[in-house]
Amino acid sequence: MKIDFRKENDYWNKYWAEHSVPFAPSLFAKFVLQHLPPQAMLCELGCGNGRDAVYFSMNNICVDAYDLACNEIEYLQKKYASTKLQFFVGDFSKLFSVEEKYNAIYSRFTIHSVTEEQEDAVLVWAYTALKKGGCVFFESRSIKDPLLQTGEKLSSNENFTDHYRRYMDAEKFQKKLLKLGFDIVYREESDLFAPYGDEKPMIVRIIAKKMK
Ligand SMILES: C[S@@+](CC[C@H](N)C(=O)[O-])C[C@H]1O[C@@H](n2cnc3c(N)ncnc32)[C@H](O)[C@@H]1O
Repeated sequence: MKIDFRKENDYWNKYWAEHSVPFAPSLFAKFVLQHLPPQAMLCELGCGNGRDAVYFSMNNICVDAYDLACNEIEYLQKKYASTKLQFFVGDFSKLFSVEEKYNAIYSRFTIHSVTEEQEDAVLVWAYTALKKGGCVFFESRSIKDPLLQTGEKLSSNENFTDHYRRYMDAEKFQKKLLKLGFDIVYREESDLFAPYGDEKPMIVRIIAKKMK
């Protein structure tokens, strides 16, 4: 099965259109905030309805937030126009190279939305875009998440339910980060990180620091 990324984009545009998804910050955003220096520059990859981007900016973090869901981004641009919080329509796997702009690069439930090739591009971009001492923060569904066993199986770690997902193999992902020169600051896997209704997905959290 070939993934039609235009349909994926339609899925997310529709998903956010009703503004019925909770706007409270995620548990991951609250966790990450404790690791950020004051007035950090943060780039969010796949901000969805903007709940975490808004939360960070309310806590004096300067945020550039990207998402492909253009209708939602246009709505957020009008609602939250500020120099400290900027929303952009964009594919986070194809961002322009910027050198040492950010203290933090944040991705919650979005690195599992892209192919491995795109993931590799994101990691290379992130290393360049981070300042020395800056960190990447990823939260993703794990290959141990029972949801992987549902829908249409595309490979050992990919499936299609109502949309595409590629579940994170934490060990493999960590190796990629180390190879790029990151140090691993934190890595944990749990089904308590992102409960949603009756669901308790198995989630990986990983923080890696650019040392040089
Ligand atoms: C599961 S939602 C997560 C949203 C938000 N991070 C949160 O936790 O509430 C995934 C989001 O990633 C976005 N997305 C997926 N692939 C993308 C890409 N290549 N570039 C930009 N955004 C992308 C989708 O449009 C969607 O809004």
